Amino acid sequence: MNYKIAVLPGDGIGPEVTDQAVRVLKTIGEKFGHTFELETALVGGIAIDETGSALPEITLQVAREADSILFGAVGGPKWDDPAAKTRPEAGLLALRKSLKLFANLRPVTAHKDLIGASPIRQNLISGVDLMVVRELTGGLYFANPKKRWTTKRGRRAVDSLKYTEQEIRRVLEVGYNLARSRRKKLTSVDKANVLESSRLWREVAEEVALENPDIQTEHILVDACAMHLIQRPKDFDVIVTENMFGDILTDEASVLAGSMGMLPSASLGTRKIAKEGANLFGLYEPIHGSAPDIAGKNLANPLAAISSLGMMFKMSLGLEQESEAIENAVDSTISAGYRTMDIYSKENRNKKVDTVGMTDQIIDRIENPHKNKVPKPL
Ligand code: IPM
Ligand code: MG
Repeated sequence: MNYKIAVLPGDGIGPEVTDQAVRVLKTIGEKFGHTFELETALVGGIAIDETGSALPEITLQVAREADSILFGAVGGPKWDDPAAKTRPEAGLLALRKSLKLFANLRPVTAHKDLIGASPIRQNLISGVDLMVVRELTGGLYFANPKKRWTTKRGRRAVDSLKYTEQEIRRVLEVGYNLARSRRKKLTSVDKANVLESSRLWREVAEEVALENPDIQTEHILVDACAMHLIQRPKDFDVIVTENMFGDILTDEASVLAGSMGMLPSASLGTRKIAKEGANLFGLYEPIHGSAPDIAGKNLANPLAAISSLGMMFKMSLGLEQESEAIENAVDSTISAGYRTMDIYSKENRNKKVDTVGMTDQIIDRIENPHKNKVPKPL
C-alpha cells in the first residue's frame, strides 16, 4: 500500500527523534512492501522564525492531505518571552483544534526491565498497564474569554473552562470503546466538588456509563486521582478526563514508565482514512516536550517517537503486524539492556547508547526478528 505521512519535526529534540522514527518507518516500508510518501513541514518555534506563524497555512494543508501526522515537539527558551505575539505551542494547539483531534490516547506501561528506572517502589508499578484518554480540543486551552488586561488596580487575566455535553460524551465514548478491548474498567476524572464544568462532566459520564453496562465505571476527583496513580497504579485501566487534568496527570503517569522518553501518544478525531483496512486519521507524537537542554546532542530517547509510529501503524493505518514488529523490537532492545541516558543505570550494567545507537538496535531487530528472543510482556 501507499501512504501519505506528514512529518512535523518542530523544535528542540523534536527533529532528532522524528528523524529516528522516519528511519524506522523506512525500514518497515522495505520489509513489508509499503511506500510512504513523506512530506515535511514547519511547526512551532522554527515556523515562527521562518514565517511568523507557529502553524503556517501550508503546514496545515500538508497535515490535512496526509493519512496521518508524525509530530516531534515544539517550544524552547528562545520563544518563551511572555510578551511575544505568538508561541510555538500555539502551533500544536491550532493543529489539534483545526483537525478536530479531540481524543488524545496516552498509554502507560511499565516495561519489566525498566521498573528500576522509576523512583516509585517496584511492587507498585510492576504490571502497570493503563491508558489515559485526554480530551484535547476543549476546556481551559481553548474557550473564550481568554485574555490579559490592565485595570487601575493592576493586571488581570482570565482563561475559561467550558465544556458542552457533546464534547464530554464523545471523548467518554472513545474511552468506553477502548475499555471494551482491554480490562473493561473506566475511571472518569473530574473536580465535581468544586467546578461547574466538572459537575456537567460527571452527569454526562453517569449517563454514558448506563449505556455501557459491560464496563465497570468509577468517578474520582482529580486530586485523589493524582494520589492514586502513585499509590495503586495497577488498578487503573482506562482513565478519561478533560484537557488540563489530562495534561497534568499524564506527565505524572510517565514516571510509572521510567521516563517521559518512553511514552507515545495518538490524537484522533472522527475522520476516516479512505484506504482499504485503514482506520481514523490521527496525529502521533511523543508526550515528552522539546527538551532544549539536550537538543542537538544525540542524547534524547527516540523510543517515544518510535512507539508513536507503532501506534500510527496500528490505530490509523490498520497495519497490525508492522506495529507489532516495532513493539517487539522496542521490548527486546530494552530487555537486551540498551539505554539512553534518561533510563540508564550503571548498577544494572546497562549498555549506554545515544539517539542514533538506540534506533540502530530497533532497526536491527525489525530486520532480524529472531533476535527478539524475549517474549512480549503481557
Ligand atoms: C502535551 C504538551 C502540550 C499541552 C503543550 C506543548 C502545548 O504539554 O502535549 O502534553 O499542554 O497539551
Ligand atoms: Mg503536557
